[in-house]
Amino acid sequence: MALAYAPALESTPVRIAARYDHFIGGRWVPSSSGQTFATVNPATEEELAQVAVGTPEDVERAVAAAREAYERYWRPMRPADRAKFVYRIARAITERSRELAVLETMDGGKPIKESRDFDVVQAAAHFFYYAGWADKLRYAIHGSEHPEPVGVVGSIIPWNFPLLMAAWKIAPAIACGNTIVLKPAETTPLTALLLAEICEEAELPPGVVNILTGDGRTGAALVAHPGIDKIAFTGSTEVGKIIQKTVAGTRKRMTLELGGKAANIVFADAPLDQAIEGVVTGIYFNQGHVCCAGSRLLVQESVHDEVVDKLKARIETLRLGDPLDKNTDIGAINSAAQHAKISELVQSGVAEGAVLYQQSCALPARGFFHRASFFTGVSQSHRIAREEIFGPVLSIMTFRTADEAIEKANNTPYGLSAGVWTDKGSKSMYVAQRLQAGVVWCSTFNQFDPSSPFGGYRESGFGREGGVAGLHPYLSV
Ligand code: NAI
Ligand code: MG
Repeated sequence: MALAYAPALESTPVRIAARYDHFIGGRWVPSSSGQTFATVNPATEEELAQVAVGTPEDVERAVAAAREAYERYWRPMRPADRAKFVYRIARAITERSRELAVLETMDGGKPIKESRDFDVVQAAAHFFYYAGWADKLRYAIHGSEHPEPVGVVGSIIPWNFPLLMAAWKIAPAIACGNTIVLKPAETTPLTALLLAEICEEAELPPGVVNILTGDGRTGAALVAHPGIDKIAFTGSTEVGKIIQKTVAGTRKRMTLELGGKAANIVFADAPLDQAIEGVVTGIYFNQGHVCCAGSRLLVQESVHDEVVDKLKARIETLRLGDPLDKNTDIGAINSAAQHAKISELVQSGVAEGAVLYQQSCALPARGFFHRASFFTGVSQSHRIAREEIFGPVLSIMTFRTADEAIEKANNTPYGLSAGVWTDKGSKSMYVAQRLQAGVVWCSTFNQFDPSSPFGGYRESGFGREGGVAGLHPYLSV
């Protein structure tokens, strides 16, 4: 008999209010329409809280508050003093890390071990990193002694890394002296609102950070607002295109971090057990809700069967279930809509003739769950090889030579990330240099650091976040 893991539930040291307002100009402000919407826990389908619907009037107020804070407090402040506030936020995230991790998991469905060990840790690290830059900006751009902030930033973020994406947007923006209006995704607004509470406790001047909740309509109103100097968006390529059209012809700056369909390339000479771990992290981390997920596995033909056998065995050991259980590897799919999208694409893969393998575990009775899955016999033209699934579903294809692997890897409209697994350093470099992707991981996958820039090519968007490069969109020279 196989040994079973006893449940190891994380305690829930977080108080969730019944209703949340917007955070505008340092105050908690209800929607001008009085309307709210529900955010649910996708693992239980229970409502967690009601959240304010952001109307065009709310956008107006938030942008006005951000403008006032920019002119009055933030831009005139000594950079070293600004840094102190950013450090305070970073420290408070660390101090309240358990609360943030639990709330992130409850609102979005990701396993507690990931929110605890990745999301919250990385979010704090971003604030620490950019706090350090605040008084050193003259070294950020060659030939520019006095770079200036750009003004009021409008940011729209997705639901896959809610707190971390808020940190990616807010930390560099405010460290450079800008103020910001941030709109979290409608299914995961709660950690951004807790971050607003942290900003309040850190006594950040009112209006420097404003959090406005709502759906795509609130986002669209923010993008269109004439008082915004720069848009920073992370989300689907489809919405990225709409935003680009709205912004065209205005003086607004813009960075877009969009979708991906990354190739993870495994050569026959790679240490296969290690590569399998990288493949698993690449596609099943965060239920595959990862823009840089290694969702296309390119395996050298001679080891295809061995890799598939190893992967079949490995996915059986992944524990799917309650995201608050510290043993859980695969949590809940973020929403019913995303679950439906994944299921539809999986059905298309079967209909187009690929072969589906899934872990055999039972699914919880409630909540949105999807088994870790992969397809063999996938060809380049299949929808599962071309479209972003954004779920725990891997498409496996083969190649014979390095050049064929490169050609197949680059045969996509996207270009966010890629992975290469080989024992040979020279081969690794040869392939990495030819992959058209913003990030290429060699013998690892999904590694992040605030000092390392991240961003895409082509339909994966443009602009870099992280590192020195991540300061540039927030500075004018
Ligand atoms: P989405 O792009 O619609 O949502 C992302 C954010 O944009 C949310 O805050 C949303 O409220 C906002 N938004 C929606 N329409 C807008 C508009 N017209 N103007 C301004 N803001 C708008 O993504 P969605 O529908 O949640 O997911 C659909 C697919 O997009 C996923 O299945 C996945 O393939 C991809 N996606 C990619 C992400 C990434 O990190 N690259 C993140 C989320 C989704
Ligand atoms: Mg939710």
